[in-house]
Amino acid sequence: MRRVFLGLVIGLLVILPGLVKAGGLGKMVGEEQVADGLLLKFENGMMKISKIQEGIIRVRATDKDKFEEDRSFALSPDAPLPKRISYQKQGENLVLETEKIKAIISPLGGKITIMSKAGEVLLDESKTSGIFFEGDKPGVIREIFAEEHFYGFGEKTGPFDKRGERMVMWNRDKMYIKDEDPLYQSHPFYISLCKGMAYGMFLDNSYQAVFDVGRSNPEEFFYQADGGELNYYFIYGPSPKEVIQGYASLVGRYPLPPLWALGYQQCRYSYRNEQRIRSITAKFRKYNIPCDVIYFDIHYMDDYKVFTFNHKRFPDPKGLISDLEKQGFKAVVIVDPGVKIEPGYFVYDQGMEKDYFVRDKDGGYFSAQVWPKDVYFPDFLKPEVREWWGELHKFYLDLGVDGIWNDMNEPAGWVKDIRPLPDLMIPSGTPAWLEMVHGDKDNPEPHAKIHNVYALLEADATYNGLKKLNPEQRPFMISRAGYPGLQRFSSVWTGDNTANWYQVKMTLSMLLNLNISGIVMSGADIGGFLGTPGSEMYARWIQQGVFYPLSRTHTAIYHKSQDPFSFGKEVREISKSAIELRYQLLPYTYSYFKLANDTGLPIMRAMLLEFPKDEKTYSISDQFFWGEWILVAPVVEKNAKNRKIYLPAGKWYKWQNPEQIEGGKEILEPVDLSTLPILVKAGAIIPLAPVMNYTWEKPWAPLELEFYPGEEKSCFNLYEDDGTSFKYLEGESLSTIYCQEPIISGYLITKQEGKGNYQPRARELALKIWGTENPSQVELLTNGNQEKLVYQYDSEKRVLALKLKDQVKGFQIKVSYKK
Ligand code: GLC
Repeated sequence: MRRVFLGLVIGLLVILPGLVKAGGLGKMVGEEQVADGLLLKFENGMMKISKIQEGIIRVRATDKDKFEEDRSFALSPDAPLPKRISYQKQGENLVLETEKIKAIISPLGGKITIMSKAGEVLLDESKTSGIFFEGDKPGVIREIFAEEHFYGFGEKTGPFDKRGERMVMWNRDKMYIKDEDPLYQSHPFYISLCKGMAYGMFLDNSYQAVFDVGRSNPEEFFYQADGGELNYYFIYGPSPKEVIQGYASLVGRYPLPPLWALGYQQCRYSYRNEQRIRSITAKFRKYNIPCDVIYFDIHYMDDYKVFTFNHKRFPDPKGLISDLEKQGFKAVVIVDPGVKIEPGYFVYDQGMEKDYFVRDKDGGYFSAQVWPKDVYFPDFLKPEVREWWGELHKFYLDLGVDGIWNDMNEPAGWVKDIRPLPDLMIPSGTPAWLEMVHGDKDNPEPHAKIHNVYALLEADATYNGLKKLNPEQRPFMISRAGYPGLQRFSSVWTGDNTANWYQVKMTLSMLLNLNISGIVMSGADIGGFLGTPGSEMYARWIQQGVFYPLSRTHTAIYHKSQDPFSFGKEVREISKSAIELRYQLLPYTYSYFKLANDTGLPIMRAMLLEFPKDEKTYSISDQFFWGEWILVAPVVEKNAKNRKIYLPAGKWYKWQNPEQIEGGKEILEPVDLSTLPILVKAGAIIPLAPVMNYTWEKPWAPLELEFYPGEEKSCFNLYEDDGTSFKYLEGESLSTIYCQEPIISGYLITKQEGKGNYQPRARELALKIWGTENPSQVELLTNGNQEKLVYQYDSEKRVLALKLKDQVKGFQIKVSYKK
């Protein structure tokens, strides 16, 4: 009976919104320049339009007579502030302008048309209803252009191009076998791409929201939030990369991680005692399969109580973690937000004493069940709670723990034995969870507003806590739930996925969209969390997984072992060489993490980011770029004998192969289980490290530099530092630009003098030039000196190899060919 009643209530909630009449802003009745923008007054509400940067404007709209307090959970503290925007009247319309864009606003309903300075229309509401309000729910409807494509939206299953999709933003604990929506993260951000021109749209409203991208009406883009204001940022490109950089200037960038976080990581639910942890880590070393990180899932805790260790299973965690460190393993432990209700348990006692837990509408504390059974949730909206939570992590740091894994932070759980409750959260939130209220007791915020940012606030607390407790070390954390801004603190994994062939393929489009959405440190559970992959599937999954920014195998409780050695010798060898390649690429990859930290550009890049004018790339997500030069085309089909790969126009090489391939076409590569097709764009300079067991086992010595000659000059900026501390912020880093260019009857390599104070250990440089002729001579040019260099030429592989002592100073190497 209760079930039926609940169903009825939820059903009504779905139907009700349709009964509320939607209205617009009506006629414009006046305008006024205010300190932070242009205020437009309408019969039924207001709009405020501000300039943020040359190509970024912000639009707010409300049907109330006052805007809400201007508070964003997402914006970075150093995001540019809203400013006035210049405007003029043209007939009835207002024309607003920045250095890069023009917006025309109609006096009827404030419909907006945004175009480039050259007059190319990017966004248009003039033929649709534009801004609307339905009860307390603001929204907007715009036209979709014939050739428009949509990407981003964060962590979404389904097709890569989101045109034709309907997506909900509501952080939800939901395992997925095929497609599911919503999942754990909510990113109300997307990129529109139409004939090579892109703009971005960030709708900064934390309430549950719906995006209907031409699903209900193929010509209309529909957005509606469950509360709050319409509050968006229009971010002009015109390239998708410029959009991503503009978005990063608003919500921030991923901090430079400790180098070890770029190593391969191993997890399971759970390595449930010391013996299991020791045996799995020993296996990695026995088989010489590189691995940097081992995870402790919920069984390490005493009765699932966070900030405790179970001493029966783990009698000496400090000793264990210190032994792991000696073998090159970092320890990451899971921390869920739910605090067990148990008087005498110090976290519970402190939280109760200080009134730190989330309350319910009746003034009591809100309880739900998670792994420890009944729990309370820390109220991360309160700054003092974030501070407290951060400080609690001293417990882990004292034991030598290196990183923190935040799970169940949607928040997830089940209430009063209805399981799994999270499913019931859509479309309007589960009544039970909506009992939660956050923040100031006398003036609380509804859960509907805080839900999607709960994990973000927790990550802020955790990251800053770790940094404060150990200012010498870059914190590392991983989070399941999130909202824009999370990237300033945490990496992300895509939750409880499943071992099936559909997901082997779909995971790539999911991660590419997550990366477009600014989450540059992301990965999926390699091999699938639910279900067990066969050996072929695991081999294929790890081949792509070594090119996830966060590369981690994980599996669920009661499942078979899932790691590089549990699928027989052949797959062990395949896994080993894929993981070894990840380690060799560390100097290249780490340089891109620095670039991501400086610009927001992802390391794992959709094809369209590199070739936005090539419309063939708009639908490709089963191959992608790793940085700017490496094109990865993992095999994603069962029993594959061939792999079709699309090469955009230009010249290409196969990985460590001399043959040049002309692009602008598809190629067909024969494959067997061991093949991981990788191509390199001509002009590439790829720095490589020696193979090692863990990222900090050996210095990058010799540093290998592979050159794939191109027709024009190209450069690579190699970034190095100590890999762990914040000293790079005080100049303890080294950026070295290497260039290559063809010259008359020769080839020129230039190393510019390194910038910065970091000194790598004395080392050799080992250079390899692919696809070259046998030279007549090779000379080293330094400071006006010329010196002949000894080299080897392999005429079969057509590769030229030479070694020289590295130096901070610059030099040139001139390769001459017989005329
Ligand atoms: C959730 C997480 C999963 C974890 C498990 C136990 O299902 O998504 O990764 O292993 O909880 O903590």
